[in-house]
Amino acid sequence: MKITILTLFPDMFSGFLTESIIGRAIKDGKAEIEIINLRNWGLGKHQQVDDTPYGGGAGMVLRVDVIAEAIRDTKLKVKSKKTKVILLTPQGQRFSQEKAKLLADEMVNGQCELILVCGHYEGFDERIRDYVDEEISIGDYVLTGGELAAGVITDAVVRLLPGVLGKEESHQKETFENNLLEHAHYTKPEDFEGKKVPEVLLSGHHANIEKWRREQSVNRTKKRRPDLG
Ligand code: 6GU
Repeated sequence: MKITILTLFPDMFSGFLTESIIGRAIKDGKAEIEIINLRNWGLGKHQQVDDTPYGGGAGMVLRVDVIAEAIRDTKLKVKSKKTKVILLTPQGQRFSQEKAKLLADEMVNGQCELILVCGHYEGFDERIRDYVDEEISIGDYVLTGGELAAGVITDAVVRLLPGVLGKEESHQKETFENNLLEHAHYTKPEDFEGKKVPEVLLSGHHANIEKWRREQSVNRTKKRRPDLG
């Protein structure tokens, strides 16, 4: 189960690949993440990946020849039968838990490898769009590049792969499952500065606890995210 990330800034990914749940998943071989520098395909002595825009204007634009070649070479190395090439851009389809599940399912059941292409600088040549399968944005705000978005998508997808989350971290009850926010959680101390843990959670009555959690979940979704319902 592999995700390849094509980026001009490979160092932006270092911490996130070695820490916590994603780090453990990679170490345990549940997921393979390869970060490749797009500059490897850069042109000339300076390994140039971008150029000035036709028609004029400020900033530099990523070159289609460089990116297309990088995508082609990356696909050649793929062991699985299928690949899905995703371009990260604020103009893409909005990412969601549902989309994360679809991508994880394609990886697991469709034996598909993901190739994430991080745009950067002011923009990329429009023709790059012809070399990718889809375009994804992580929300309605502008980042300086697609790297953080690629990290977000990788995290959300990898944690859904088989065996990555332990039983205790299962995603069956978590936020966004069934379009609901998750219930509140409490741990020790029982009373902190007068703020008490709800009585029902101390009762040991499992059916009541389940019922309370379900109600909590429904009520807080209504209140905080009525759009989810
Ligand atoms: Cl995928 N890229 C950039 N540059 N900005 C974004 C984004 C992606 N998603 C939201 N904002």
